[in-house]
Amino acid sequence: MSARNEAGWRAAPALPRDYWVPGSVYTQPDIFALERREIFGRTWRFACHESELPEPGDYRCVEHAGLDLFLLRGPDGLVRCFFNACSHRGARLLSAPSGNARKITCFYHLWTYDSRGRCIGIPRAEGYSRAGIGKSQLGLREVRCESHLGLLFINLDDEAPPLEDYLDGALAPFDSILRSGPLEVFHFSRTVLDCNWKAWHETNMDLYHEYMHVVLRQTQVNAMPMEDRALQVFANGHGGSGRLRAAYDGYRGFKGRGSDEVPPLPGTTATEFLFSILFSGSAVLSRGTVMRIDTVSPQGPDRTVLEMRGLGIKGEPQEHRRIRERHHNQYWGPFGRNVPEDMLAAESCARSFSGTTANHQLIAREEALTGQDDAILRNFYREWSRHTGVEWDCDAGARS
Ligand code: FES
Ligand SMILES: [Fe+2]
Repeated sequence: MSARNEAGWRAAPALPRDYWVPGSVYTQPDIFALERREIFGRTWRFACHESELPEPGDYRCVEHAGLDLFLLRGPDGLVRCFFNACSHRGARLLSAPSGNARKITCFYHLWTYDSRGRCIGIPRAEGYSRAGIGKSQLGLREVRCESHLGLLFINLDDEAPPLEDYLDGALAPFDSILRSGPLEVFHFSRTVLDCNWKAWHETNMDLYHEYMHVVLRQTQVNAMPMEDRALQVFANGHGGSGRLRAAYDGYRGFKGRGSDEVPPLPGTTATEFLFSILFSGSAVLSRGTVMRIDTVSPQGPDRTVLEMRGLGIKGEPQEHRRIRERHHNQYWGPFGRNVPEDMLAAESCARSFSGTTANHQLIAREEALTGQDDAILRNFYREWSRHTGVEWDCDAGARS
């Protein structure tokens, strides 16, 4: 039982590969480039909720894998996704983060596209007749877009399996909420974090940092026996929880949250807590009365844009919405008692790995998929290696 010298500190753990992760996966530019191509270029990614595009012509811009895209609802009610770049010389077509456009006219030379991405107008198009090109060949690049009960996902890979196959039931715990009635996004925030995208995602996969949050020590840790907490892992790197319980009444300022202060989301109860982790970088969480969806957009090995949405019941009375906003912000708002602490933790680990003060992390808790098991993290990193080809062992460290 002693502190370690340099050799002892730097030595890779003499543990099975699943139990640890080398720090290089958070810091190396070549690994980041692999992730962008092999993970973000090929897997389904949550883009937005359908309530963000309620009317025909509504659009929303998103950034994914370093690409500018937009989703747009057509007059037929379907939401489609396209590269946000003109077929002519590549100018950005839509510059506002969201809006409404029945057709899209590029500001540069006024080429025009419809909601299906078809090129429908080129000024003096006859000038291209000698080149033999015309509108029919000059549509936008469409990106696959599929919905799971109102959650819109996109995939850059035209050959990827359908969304439902990819999810492998990982969102099933939320289906009763998502099916029960229309929801809408009432909170959206965008935060730039000085950390690798996985460091943020780990805050959602690691349940036992609940000891860090004072609010969770008082509302969650003892709300149900550890052995009764069920965790789950799914194919394709997803994970999640069974139906967990929280106890709000003992926490100052939370009285009423666990009773009938505001109706819980349909299909859940005021004290129920559950989460789903989607590979690669999204998480869906609910706390009885409110639901949150996180999505990461990695900018570089040490920079991540985090989008966070809060959802409530569409069309509910204003007094209900105010209470629901309070419930969201108590945990998840910018001054909440949960999310800002997670951001501190993610950036703290990132700092240690970027300066190589730390060189690996441990994910070795085994509790038979209950309590505070690290199984969700292990499942994530197995899938991560399957995509990137990056592996490690106690002799060689990380290699691809
Ligand atoms: S770049 Fe769009 S019309 Fe020329
Ligand atoms: Fe947390």
